[in-house]
Amino acid sequence: MPQLAKQTAITDSPFYPGNKSAYKQWREAKLRFLKPAMSDVLVRITDPYRLSAEENAAIAVCCENYNMAVYQLGDTSVRDKSLVHALGKQFAMEKLDANLRSDEDSISSLEVREQNGNQYIPYTNKALSWHTDGYYNPLDKQIFGIIMHCVSPAAAGGVNSLLNPENIYIALRDENPAYIEALMHPQAMTIPANIDSGEVIRQAQTGPVFMIKPNGRLHMRFSARKRNIRWRDTPDTQNAVAMINDFLADESNVLQVKLEAGQGIICNNVLHNRSGFTDGSIQKRLMYRARYYDAVESFKL
Ligand SMILES: [Fe+2]
Repeated sequence: MPQLAKQTAITDSPFYPGNKSAYKQWREAKLRFLKPAMSDVLVRITDPYRLSAEENAAIAVCCENYNMAVYQLGDTSVRDKSLVHALGKQFAMEKLDANLRSDEDSISSLEVREQNGNQYIPYTNKALSWHTDGYYNPLDKQIFGIIMHCVSPAAAGGVNSLLNPENIYIALRDENPAYIEALMHPQAMTIPANIDSGEVIRQAQTGPVFMIKPNGRLHMRFSARKRNIRWRDTPDTQNAVAMINDFLADESNVLQVKLEAGQGIICNNVLHNRSGFTDGSIQKRLMYRARYYDAVESFKL
Protein backbone atom coordinates (compact mmCIF):
# COMPACT_ATOMS: atom_id res chain seq x y z
CA MET A 1 0.00 0.00 0.00
CA PRO A 2 1.32 3.48 -0.75
CA GLN A 3 2.28 5.35 2.38
CA LEU A 4 0.40 8.63 2.25
CA ALA A 5 -0.06 11.37 4.80
CA LYS A 6 -2.77 10.78 7.33
CA GLN A 7 -5.54 13.23 8.08
CA THR A 8 -4.73 15.26 11.17
CA ALA A 9 -7.15 17.16 13.39
CA ILE A 10 -6.52 20.87 12.88
CA THR A 11 -6.17 21.45 16.62
CA ASP A 12 -3.33 18.87 16.73
CA SER A 13 -1.31 20.83 14.18
CA PRO A 14 1.64 22.90 15.46
CA PHE A 15 0.35 25.67 13.19
CA TYR A 16 -2.95 25.94 15.09
CA PRO A 17 -2.55 29.16 17.12
CA GLY A 18 -3.96 27.61 20.30
CA ASN A 19 -1.60 24.64 20.27
CA LYS A 20 1.44 26.07 22.02
CA SER A 21 3.03 22.78 23.06
CA ALA A 22 2.94 21.27 19.55
CA TYR A 23 4.35 24.50 18.12
CA LYS A 24 7.19 24.58 20.65
CA GLN A 25 8.13 20.99 19.87
CA TRP A 26 7.86 21.45 16.10
CA ARG A 27 9.81 24.74 16.21
CA GLU A 28 12.68 23.13 18.12
CA ALA A 29 12.99 20.41 15.51
CA LYS A 30 12.61 22.87 12.61
CA LEU A 31 15.39 25.25 13.61
CA ARG A 32 17.92 22.82 12.11
CA PHE A 33 16.21 23.22 8.75
CA LEU A 34 15.76 26.90 8.14
CA LYS A 35 17.37 28.36 5.04
CA PRO A 36 18.88 25.53 2.99
CA ALA A 37 22.07 25.72 0.98
CA MET A 38 21.73 24.47 -2.58
CA SER A 39 23.61 21.32 -1.56
CA ASP A 40 20.93 20.57 1.07
CA VAL A 41 18.16 20.33 -1.52
CA LEU A 42 19.94 19.14 -4.69
CA VAL A 43 19.18 15.58 -5.79
CA ARG A 44 20.73 13.96 -8.86
CA ILE A 45 18.43 11.60 -10.72
CA THR A 46 19.27 9.15 -13.44
CA ASP A 47 15.88 8.39 -14.99
CA PRO A 48 12.96 10.73 -14.23
CA TYR A 49 10.52 8.06 -15.44
CA ARG A 50 11.79 5.50 -12.93
CA LEU A 51 13.33 7.03 -9.84
CA SER A 52 15.32 4.71 -7.64
CA ALA A 53 14.08 4.28 -4.08
CA GLU A 54 17.05 6.38 -2.91
CA GLU A 55 16.34 9.22 -5.34
CA ASN A 56 12.66 9.22 -4.45
CA ALA A 57 13.42 9.22 -0.72
CA ALA A 58 16.02 12.00 -1.09
CA ILE A 59 13.52 14.31 -2.80
CA ALA A 60 10.81 13.44 -0.28
CA VAL A 61 13.16 14.15 2.65
CA CYS A 62 14.13 17.55 1.19
CA CYS A 63 10.43 18.38 0.88
CA GLU A 64 9.80 17.15 4.42
CA ASN A 65 12.61 19.32 5.82
CA TYR A 66 12.50 22.36 3.55
CA ASN A 67 9.29 21.97 1.51
CA MET A 68 11.46 21.96 -1.63
CA ALA A 69 13.93 19.96 -3.68
CA VAL A 70 15.97 20.79 -6.78
CA TYR A 71 16.65 17.86 -9.06
CA GLN A 72 19.33 17.47 -11.67
CA LEU A 73 18.85 15.04 -14.53
CA GLY A 74 21.88 12.95 -15.39
CA ASP A 75 20.93 13.11 -19.07
CA THR A 76 20.01 16.70 -19.92
CA SER A 77 18.90 15.72 -23.42
CA VAL A 78 15.76 14.17 -21.87
CA ARG A 79 13.32 17.05 -22.27
CA ASP A 80 9.94 15.64 -23.22
CA LYS A 81 7.15 17.19 -21.20
CA SER A 82 5.98 13.72 -20.20
CA LEU A 83 8.85 13.63 -17.70
CA VAL A 84 6.99 16.20 -15.57
CA HIS A 85 3.85 14.04 -15.47
CA ALA A 86 5.98 11.00 -14.66
CA LEU A 87 7.89 12.72 -11.87
CA GLY A 88 4.68 14.00 -10.28
CA LYS A 89 3.08 10.56 -10.23
CA GLN A 90 6.06 9.19 -8.31
CA PHE A 91 5.20 11.65 -5.51
CA ALA A 92 1.41 11.13 -5.62
CA MET A 93 1.03 14.44 -7.45
CA GLU A 94 -1.68 13.84 -10.02
CA LYS A 95 -4.50 16.36 -9.71
CA LEU A 96 -3.34 19.14 -12.02
CA ASP A 97 -4.74 22.65 -11.96
CA ALA A 98 -5.69 23.86 -15.44
CA ASN A 99 -5.26 27.62 -15.65
CA LEU A 100 -6.06 30.22 -18.27
CA ARG A 101 -2.83 29.88 -20.22
CA SER A 102 -1.87 26.27 -19.56
CA ASP A 103 -1.45 23.81 -22.43
CA GLU A 104 -3.97 21.08 -23.22
CA ASP A 105 -2.33 18.71 -20.74
CA SER A 106 -2.70 21.33 -17.95
CA ILE A 107 1.05 21.92 -17.77
CA SER A 108 2.17 25.43 -18.70
CA SER A 109 5.03 26.14 -21.08
CA LEU A 110 6.42 29.33 -19.57
CA GLU A 111 8.12 31.35 -22.26
CA VAL A 112 7.90 34.83 -23.74
CA ARG A 113 4.91 34.92 -26.07
CA GLU A 114 2.42 37.24 -27.72
CA GLN A 115 -0.75 37.50 -25.61
CA ASN A 116 -4.21 38.73 -26.49
CA GLY A 117 -6.19 40.64 -23.85
CA ASN A 118 -4.77 40.73 -20.30
CA GLN A 119 -0.99 40.41 -20.24
CA TYR A 120 0.17 37.71 -17.82
CA ILE A 121 3.62 38.46 -16.47
CA PRO A 122 4.77 34.80 -16.36
CA TYR A 123 4.66 34.83 -20.19
CA THR A 124 6.83 37.94 -20.45
CA ASN A 125 10.49 38.45 -19.55
CA LYS A 126 9.60 40.76 -16.66
CA ALA A 127 10.37 40.12 -13.01
CA LEU A 128 7.68 38.34 -10.97
CA SER A 129 7.22 39.52 -7.39
CA TRP A 130 6.97 37.18 -4.40
CA HIS A 131 3.94 34.90 -4.33
CA THR A 132 2.69 31.41 -3.85
CA ASP A 133 1.01 29.88 -6.89
CA GLY A 134 -2.76 29.98 -7.21
CA TYR A 135 -3.31 32.47 -4.38
CA TYR A 136 -6.31 33.67 -6.43
CA ASN A 137 -7.80 30.16 -6.69
CA PRO A 138 -10.92 29.20 -4.71
CA LEU A 139 -10.06 27.84 -1.27
CA ASP A 140 -11.03 24.31 -2.28
CA LYS A 141 -8.67 24.47 -5.28
CA GLN A 142 -5.48 25.55 -3.59
CA ILE A 143 -2.15 24.60 -5.12
CA PHE A 144 -0.26 22.38 -2.69
CA GLY A 145 2.51 21.15 -5.01
CA ILE A 146 4.51 22.47 -7.97
CA ILE A 147 7.01 20.98 -10.40
CA MET A 148 8.95 23.40 -12.59
CA HIS A 149 11.33 21.89 -15.12
CA CYS A 150 13.90 23.91 -17.03
CA VAL A 151 14.15 22.97 -20.69
CA SER A 152 16.27 25.99 -21.50
CA PRO A 153 17.47 28.89 -19.32
CA ALA A 154 17.47 32.53 -20.42
CA ALA A 155 20.66 33.96 -21.89
CA ALA A 156 20.79 36.22 -18.81
CA GLY A 157 18.66 36.53 -15.67
CA GLY A 158 15.57 34.50 -14.86
CA VAL A 159 16.75 33.62 -11.35
CA ASN A 160 14.18 32.20 -8.94
CA SER A 161 14.32 32.97 -5.23
CA LEU A 162 12.66 30.43 -2.94
CA LEU A 163 11.55 30.60 0.66
CA ASN A 164 9.85 28.02 2.84
CA PRO A 165 6.64 29.59 4.28
CA GLU A 166 7.33 27.76 7.57
CA ASN A 167 10.30 30.12 8.12
CA ILE A 168 8.08 33.17 7.87
CA TYR A 169 5.50 31.53 10.11
CA ILE A 170 8.15 31.06 12.82
CA ALA A 171 9.37 34.67 12.52
CA LEU A 172 5.82 36.03 12.75
CA ARG A 173 4.66 33.80 15.59
CA ASP A 174 7.82 34.51 17.59
CA GLU A 175 7.33 38.25 17.05
CA ASN A 176 3.63 38.32 17.92
CA PRO A 177 1.20 35.36 17.95
CA ALA A 178 -1.60 37.82 17.09
CA TYR A 179 0.00 38.16 13.64
CA ILE A 180 -0.72 34.49 13.01
CA GLU A 181 -4.33 34.85 14.10
CA ALA A 182 -4.71 37.90 11.83
CA LEU A 183 -3.30 35.99 8.86
CA MET A 184 -5.49 32.96 9.54
CA HIS A 185 -8.59 35.14 9.52
CA PRO A 186 -10.99 34.12 6.72
CA GLN A 187 -11.06 37.71 5.43
CA ALA A 188 -7.32 38.40 5.69
CA MET A 189 -6.65 38.78 1.96
CA THR A 190 -8.95 39.54 -0.96
CA ILE A 191 -8.02 39.28 -4.63
CA PRO A 192 -10.46 41.31 -6.74
CA ALA A 193 -12.21 39.66 -9.69
CA ASN A 194 -10.25 39.19 -12.91
CA ILE A 195 -12.08 41.08 -15.63
CA ASP A 196 -11.00 40.91 -19.28
CA SER A 197 -12.83 43.10 -21.82
CA GLY A 198 -15.76 43.54 -19.43
CA GLU A 199 -16.13 39.79 -18.81
CA VAL A 200 -15.57 38.36 -15.33
CA ILE A 201 -13.21 35.42 -15.87
CA ARG A 202 -12.54 34.81 -12.18
CA GLN A 203 -14.61 35.93 -9.21
CA ALA A 204 -13.04 37.83 -6.31
CA GLN A 205 -11.40 35.46 -3.81
CA THR A 206 -11.25 36.15 -0.10
CA GLY A 207 -9.45 33.93 2.36
CA PRO A 208 -6.69 33.48 4.91
CA VAL A 209 -2.96 33.74 4.25
CA PHE A 210 -2.08 30.76 6.44
CA MET A 211 -4.17 27.60 6.25
CA ILE A 212 -3.68 24.18 7.81
CA LYS A 213 -3.75 21.38 5.25
CA PRO A 214 -5.57 18.10 5.89
CA ASN A 215 -2.21 16.50 6.76
CA GLY A 216 -1.62 19.13 9.48
CA ARG A 217 1.04 21.02 7.54
CA LEU A 218 1.08 24.69 6.66
CA HIS A 219 -0.22 26.24 3.45
CA MET A 220 0.32 29.89 2.52
CA ARG A 221 -1.67 32.06 0.11
CA PHE A 222 0.31 35.18 -0.61
CA SER A 223 1.16 37.83 -3.16
CA ALA A 224 3.48 40.76 -2.59
CA ARG A 225 1.77 42.76 -5.35
CA LYS A 226 0.80 46.19 -4.09
CA ARG A 227 -2.02 46.58 -6.59
CA ASN A 228 -4.91 44.15 -6.79
CA ILE A 229 -4.59 42.82 -3.24
CA ARG A 230 -6.91 44.05 -0.49
CA TRP A 231 -5.69 43.34 3.02
CA ARG A 232 -8.07 43.24 5.97
CA ASP A 233 -7.91 46.62 7.62
CA THR A 234 -6.59 45.81 11.08
CA PRO A 235 -3.25 46.87 12.61
CA ASP A 236 -2.15 43.25 13.17
CA THR A 237 -2.87 42.34 9.54
CA GLN A 238 -1.07 45.39 8.18
CA ASN A 239 1.94 44.94 10.50
CA ALA A 240 2.17 41.23 9.73
CA VAL A 241 2.15 41.86 5.98
CA ALA A 242 4.84 44.52 6.38
CA MET A 243 6.93 42.02 8.35
CA ILE A 244 6.49 39.38 5.62
CA ASN A 245 7.63 41.86 2.97
CA ASP A 246 10.68 42.82 5.05
CA PHE A 247 11.55 39.15 5.58
CA LEU A 248 11.29 38.45 1.84
CA ALA A 249 13.39 41.48 0.96
CA ASP A 250 16.33 40.16 3.02
CA GLU A 251 18.37 37.99 0.65
CA SER A 252 20.01 36.20 3.56
CA ASN A 253 16.64 34.47 4.16
CA VAL A 254 16.17 33.07 0.66
CA LEU A 255 17.64 30.45 -1.65
CA GLN A 256 18.44 31.74 -5.13
CA VAL A 257 18.36 29.24 -7.96
CA LYS A 258 19.07 29.76 -11.61
CA LEU A 259 17.83 26.54 -13.11
CA GLU A 260 19.98 25.10 -15.88
CA ALA A 261 18.69 22.84 -18.64
CA GLY A 262 17.72 19.50 -17.10
CA GLN A 263 17.18 20.91 -13.61
CA GLY A 264 13.86 21.42 -11.90
CA ILE A 265 12.13 22.28 -8.66
CA ILE A 266 9.68 20.00 -6.84
CA CYS A 267 8.07 21.77 -3.93
CA ASN A 268 5.09 22.23 -1.64
CA ASN A 269 4.25 25.60 -3.24
CA VAL A 270 6.91 27.57 -1.41
CA LEU A 271 7.12 31.34 -1.75
CA HIS A 272 9.01 32.31 -4.89
CA ASN A 273 9.81 35.15 -7.25
CA ARG A 274 11.65 35.48 -10.57
CA SER A 275 14.07 38.12 -11.74
CA GLY A 276 13.63 39.65 -15.18
CA PHE A 277 15.55 38.01 -18.00
CA THR A 278 16.89 38.44 -21.51
CA ASP A 279 16.46 35.85 -24.21
CA GLY A 280 19.13 35.46 -26.87
CA SER A 281 18.35 34.86 -30.53
CA ILE A 282 18.74 31.11 -29.96
CA GLN A 283 18.99 30.78 -26.18
CA LYS A 284 15.39 31.30 -25.02
CA ARG A 285 13.96 30.55 -21.58
CA LEU A 286 11.46 27.68 -21.50
CA MET A 287 10.09 26.11 -18.32
CA TYR A 288 7.42 23.48 -17.92
CA ARG A 289 5.32 24.22 -14.88
CA ALA A 290 2.80 21.85 -13.33
CA ARG A 291 0.57 22.93 -10.45
CA TYR A 292 -1.11 20.28 -8.35
CA TYR A 293 -3.85 20.16 -5.76
CA ASP A 294 -1.63 17.49 -4.14
CA ALA A 295 1.41 18.07 -1.95
CA VAL A 296 4.63 16.07 -2.40
CA GLU A 297 4.21 12.60 -0.88
CA SER A 298 6.48 9.61 -0.98
CA PHE A 299 5.47 6.08 -1.79
CA LYS A 300 8.85 4.72 -0.85
CA LEU A 301 9.93 6.32 2.43
FE1 LIG B 1 4.69 31.12 -9.42
